[in-house]
Amino acid sequence: MSEKFYITTPIYYPSDKLHIGHTYCTVATDAMARYKRLRGCDVLFLTGTDEHGQKIENKAKEAGVTPQQFVDQIVCGERGILDLWKLMNISNDRFIRTTDSYHVSAIQRIFKKMHDNGDIYKGKYKGKYCTPCESFWTESQLVDGKCPDCGREVIDAEEEAYFFRLSKYAEPVRKLLTETDFLEPKSRVKEMVTNFIDPGLEDLCVSRTSFTWGIPVDFDPGHVVYVWVDALFNYLTALGYENDAHNDVDKFWPADVHFVGKEIVRFHSIIWPAMLMSVGMPLPKKVYGHGWLVMDGGKMSKSKGNVVDPYILAERFGVDALRFFLLRTFPFGSDGNFSNELLIGTINTDLANDLGNLVSRTVAMVQKYFGGTLPADQEADAAMDAELCEMVSSLRDRYEAQMENYQFQNALAEIFKVISRANKYIDENAPWVLAKDESKKARLARVMYNLLAAVRVCGVLLTPFMPETAEKIKQRIGADRYDWESAADMRALPETASVQGGDPLFPRIDAEKELAALEAMKPKPQSAVEFEPFAEETVDFDTFCKSDFRAVKVKACEAVKKSEKLLRFTLDDGTGEDRQILSGIHKYYEPEQLVGKTLLAIVNLPPRKMMGLESCGMLISAVHTENGEEKLHLVMLDDAIPAGAKMC
Ligand code: MSP
Repeated sequence: MSEKFYITTPIYYPSDKLHIGHTYCTVATDAMARYKRLRGCDVLFLTGTDEHGQKIENKAKEAGVTPQQFVDQIVCGERGILDLWKLMNISNDRFIRTTDSYHVSAIQRIFKKMHDNGDIYKGKYKGKYCTPCESFWTESQLVDGKCPDCGREVIDAEEEAYFFRLSKYAEPVRKLLTETDFLEPKSRVKEMVTNFIDPGLEDLCVSRTSFTWGIPVDFDPGHVVYVWVDALFNYLTALGYENDAHNDVDKFWPADVHFVGKEIVRFHSIIWPAMLMSVGMPLPKKVYGHGWLVMDGGKMSKSKGNVVDPYILAERFGVDALRFFLLRTFPFGSDGNFSNELLIGTINTDLANDLGNLVSRTVAMVQKYFGGTLPADQEADAAMDAELCEMVSSLRDRYEAQMENYQFQNALAEIFKVISRANKYIDENAPWVLAKDESKKARLARVMYNLLAAVRVCGVLLTPFMPETAEKIKQRIGADRYDWESAADMRALPETASVQGGDPLFPRIDAEKELAALEAMKPKPQSAVEFEPFAEETVDFDTFCKSDFRAVKVKACEAVKKSEKLLRFTLDDGTGEDRQILSGIHKYYEPEQLVGKTLLAIVNLPPRKMMGLESCGMLISAVHTENGEEKLHLVMLDDAIPAGAKMC
């Protein structure tokens, strides 16, 4: 009986467009699933969509459709999630939608089970409530103390809700995290324990009454199940837990590994095991919290206008190149900075130069020197073959050690060391010189065989990452065996292999041209220029008149030592005495640009000390956000206005 392997990705929340960050996790899971299949395991790879919750309800309302229509479009519509996974060659065995009826009824049974065993009880949910959005928020979700969705004031409010006794499981969960290898990488364990368990786990609110787009609590109408309870149990309901749609719980549970992004490690390593303990199910063997793909150091987000469209990248560079890039470039456990430059550079260096050239040169030489089929008459290996042969023969073991620890980047690095070595082997042996000497034919045949054999082993091990390319390589080098066992045996390629030519596997990309084309395609943010919301509070006229605005002329301006931001202005304010104002605008202006300018200042603010210097007033500027970036312009007055003129 073959070994079972159950692997999952987080199920996607179809509220926004999928970006390359989402694709990353699913590609990684796919590579792992394919690797296990290559090893002969009986694999179940699950992915899906997490379709309930208030955000979806609100978005559907905005779009003027029902929530079900809204999610259907994103999941099944053209260029939706299903299309993307097909394009990316994702080999999931099952796809769950949390709106699937078997999942809905299973969640109702699970909720009832935890209610019946006393782990779910009724209480009062207290939080910050935004009346226009009808949304509860936690303190930490608020932005500047206001509703994160609409920016309006929130009020303290409470509603009746069900709670899960998470606090009861604090100690078993702590043990799980600190005494086992349940959560990896290890750095995430400390984060969970210090940030969440040490301060004391509070019971978790697991039902809501302020919106309806969720799974109804069937024994208490008006309540819907909290979206994370609904979502986490997908890993079990998709196997048939508490439903008849599938029948794989015994075969595949516990899961071997859940791959999850770092921001949802808390749900998977604290709440999920606690709920499993509550329903009496075994725990998954591992949760692996991978890092994020970031851009310019920040998380990808639509509002930043930097969401990278995986469709565009896959269509321009090829699915395999994109899959490869994601796993070759970034260590899985840490964040990685995505850029188009890096993507193109990796394709050109690793795929076009190293791998592509190795395959095309080798195949072309076998065609040229042997008409496409190697002769059986080959010399034995020479001493100078030993290093390459040793590296190829031991590659599978080194690769395996990395793959078993989810170190995709290192596994690929092992393959590329062999590819580099093989390219060097071509130069060392100079087949074009051997070919000129008839007496060296048998040696030449051996050299070409060793190269084809090296390419074959690399091709087998690249299968999980670049399935289509690996298959093309197999055809080109005339390999018949391409299985896991054969990857440990360099000689599994027949000596009289026949090759086939073809187009370059990865044509070189003209980086400059391609970057310009990508730049031109960048989605324009919906609102390129944004302003602070207008003040809602009025200010009475007398109070306003107390502010003394004056025209001031810049006599001198210099950067304040040891400060990155501050500029020190010496100003003529018409009084005959210099006025000093400090302003944190060095990011926007160089001091010399400002000398001689007529600016606007408020001069009756109480003096303030900054970096040991006194600032007597404030220069007035105009601020706005453009394409997510803050912009500032000092208000400049007509130079005909004399210093000291009062603004009124
Ligand atoms: N619906 C939840 C998961 C429920 S699992 C029971 C969810 N969905 S999500 O669509 O917001 O995110 C799906 C996955 O994509 C998460 O693992 C998340 O970490 C990952 N990523 C989203 N943006 C990412 C990057 N920029 N980089 C890497 N992964 C990121 O969370």
